[in-house]
Amino acid sequence: MSFTKRSVENLKEQVDIVEVIGRVVQLKRAGASHKGLCPFHSEKTPSFSVSGQKQYFTCFGCGASGDVIEFVRRYYNLEFNDAVEKLGKEYGIELEESHSRGPDLEPYYRANKAAAEFFYKCFTEKANKGYSYMKKRGIDPKLLKRFGIGYADEEWDSLHKHLTGLGFDPEMLVELGLSAKRGDRYYDKFRNRVIFPIINTSGKVIGFGGRRIDPNDNPKYLNSPESRVFSKKNMLYGLNLSRKAVAEAGFIILVEGYMDTIGIYRAGIENVAASLGTALTENQARLIKRYTNDVILLYDSDAAGRNAALRGMEILKKEGLRVRVLHVTDGKDPDEFVLEKGRDEFLKLLDKALPYGEYRIEAIRSRHDISNEEGRIECLKEIASELRSYSPVEQDVYIRRVSQDMGVSETALRREIGLDGSAPGSRRPERAEDPEKEPDPLSPVEKDLIRLAILHPEMTDKVSEAFDSLSSDSGTAIISAISDECSAGDGFDLRRVMDGLDEPLRTMLRDIASEDIPIADPDALLADCLSRKRVEALKKKEQMLISMLDGASEEDQGRMMEQIQNIRREIRLGKDGKRQNEKH
Ligand code: CTP
Ligand code: MN
Repeated sequence: MSFTKRSVENLKEQVDIVEVIGRVVQLKRAGASHKGLCPFHSEKTPSFSVSGQKQYFTCFGCGASGDVIEFVRRYYNLEFNDAVEKLGKEYGIELEESHSRGPDLEPYYRANKAAAEFFYKCFTEKANKGYSYMKKRGIDPKLLKRFGIGYADEEWDSLHKHLTGLGFDPEMLVELGLSAKRGDRYYDKFRNRVIFPIINTSGKVIGFGGRRIDPNDNPKYLNSPESRVFSKKNMLYGLNLSRKAVAEAGFIILVEGYMDTIGIYRAGIENVAASLGTALTENQARLIKRYTNDVILLYDSDAAGRNAALRGMEILKKEGLRVRVLHVTDGKDPDEFVLEKGRDEFLKLLDKALPYGEYRIEAIRSRHDISNEEGRIECLKEIASELRSYSPVEQDVYIRRVSQDMGVSETALRREIGLDGSAPGSRRPERAEDPEKEPDPLSPVEKDLIRLAILHPEMTDKVSEAFDSLSSDSGTAIISAISDECSAGDGFDLRRVMDGLDEPLRTMLRDIASEDIPIADPDALLADCLSRKRVEALKKKEQMLISMLDGASEEDQGRMMEQIQNIRREIRLGKDGKRQNEKH
């Protein structure tokens, strides 16, 4: 169920945030606001502040902040609409339902929950292969319960019978990937597997992963298909359990697999979650940002793990997160490492995580054979080209380090990078996008803006204004279709907008519409988008200047470098400004 923006606004006007929070947090007046101990992380001196005037809470310790709905959402662990409903009930405020958000998903969640309970029962009530398998892997009963681990038995349709017996629609079970249909018979998809329920941060069971027990079964992991309630790219496994520890520790450890998450958790390190073996996405980055700005990527040390780390790093960095990377050595994965070496060794390992720049330089170095002259030269050239896009301070630090490590003079390296105004050796476009790729992908800001327009059609005019000559053609086309739908005056119908679009635009829009990210404060999101757009524009300008450096005269190059540095300063200021705004 979802509610109209008008009635949510009305609710916010009538409910006092100080009262709502005051019921669960002891607040003391301090000047114009109230202070107390933050409920979202442990602390002894209060850094949690609630402003009655602004109807806003902020924690200066862990960074949690938001309006009354956001507080209820986080404190009681609810989805946005459930938080609104709870407040409405408590204060006797009527809410208007809005019908624009598609079918009711509750039955899907209920079916998944019932399935998880069934798997759990099979796992715990009598001896079974799943339990023995997990026991062998060193997982204790408390942890098994925590993660709700279960067992899918070897029969053909025990789950299907159980769920239809509870009244669930067989077709829905097929849609959820729990059952499959052959002819007119239904059978269970998960058989003879250890089951890992996937639970979102609102506590809803959205999908399952099933690990084979018999090494001859394929695939090794069977995962729920994408469905109305499950989108792998919008969630992180384990975050439902770890988010509090993440806020407290101030960083999150991201791993690849189910077992890595559980293994690290078992060692008493609870700020961990998994991307389940797929490439990280912007949405996952944003999900992380709700709890921390600091990420350690801990991936396998094989080539796949290294490439995944390099790609993941870019995505996280783009979303403004600080990233460090770590690989477990000896061909082990993180799960095996902690099991064998224990917590202390693991903590020592975490300290060795390399920051962005160092990791990228290290990656270049490991691709070259630097024992001979030729290899070393190639390697240095590549490092120079990498360093070209770094900030002056970063360049300074890395130039010093690389020149020491690789036995070249700093001057030579500076020249190779092009920092002394002389024409450098070879110049490549900086981290350019692959030109062969899809026409015109949407930028993160554009996606946010489009999401804003479809969830709050009344803001479409303001949103369209944010699209300008720097926007992508795809983004502009999608927003003008939404705008047309709004001005047709026939009520806003997302399906009609989609029908009117050609591929790949339609898929782009559908992807955005299927992301279940609630917007707590549309005006704040719009403001945030505008400021991010400004930064984007500056970055484009920077790229442009960098690409022009090549053919320019020495004198012009000097001027350009100066301009580039000014732009970089402005970008940094813009970002800091944004961060401060968010706090108020
Ligand atoms: N994965 C998947 N499907 C597969 C293989 C892997 O979805 N066929 C995902 C799973 O989420 C898995 C992660 O990728 O947890 C990492 O894969 P891998 O390293 O092979 O598995 P582990 O997590 O190490 O599992 P295990 O320790 O049980 O072998
Ligand atoms: Mn493993």
